[in-house]
Amino acid sequence: MLKVAVLISGSGSNLKALLDEFNDPAVADTDALVRIVAVGSDTDAPGLVHAEAAGVPAFVVRPGDYDDREEWGQVLAAALQEHGMNTGPEPTLVVSAGLMRILPPGFVREFSPRLINTHPALLPLFPGAHAVRDALAAGAVETGVTVHVIDEGVDTGPVLRQARVEILPGESEDELHERIKQIERPLLVDTVRAIAAGELTLPE
Ligand code: GRF
Repeated sequence: MLKVAVLISGSGSNLKALLDEFNDPAVADTDALVRIVAVGSDTDAPGLVHAEAAGVPAFVVRPGDYDDREEWGQVLAAALQEHGMNTGPEPTLVVSAGLMRILPPGFVREFSPRLINTHPALLPLFPGAHAVRDALAAGAVETGVTVHVIDEGVDTGPVLRQARVEILPGESEDELHERIKQIERPLLVDTVRAIAAGELTLPE
């Protein structure tokens, strides 16, 4: 069983998709391919309700409580390690699913490549926090989703999976983002499943 921790900042619909797929209470732990074992956030994210509903422990580590990003990252890393991430011989995976923070280098060095992110654009196009807005502003006719390994850059790590989404004439940022998320959720779920099943090898 692959133990997974998910990091969020927002509504957590990707988290919910992962919980719905992998944390079926009717399936015993011994039969499960993947379990979400913890959820972390940088804020009181609305999506934390999904962790509570699924009975998964959740924690908040606020950057504002620390002197700098590295210190925040160390406390976040310690919280994940308390939930078994990267502490023993068995592989674990940390999934950033709408965490709206750049993870500091020390944190990335600790967990990468078993640290992945989902991003609402076809990287390397439109990295950063406003990927959907930037695609619209550029007049792009298509965009999409990328699931990638997190490295020390901003949305620059090795691409694992991508899916395309056509941009419809006149659609708003919210409308386009919602359509992207409909593609994003199953792509993220399938990427985690493929990693757990050994079908997708993470680059060293
Ligand atoms: C996703 O589109 C993710 O790629 C982006 O923020 C969105 C989070 O959505 N960074 P949700 O919180 O999973 O609903």
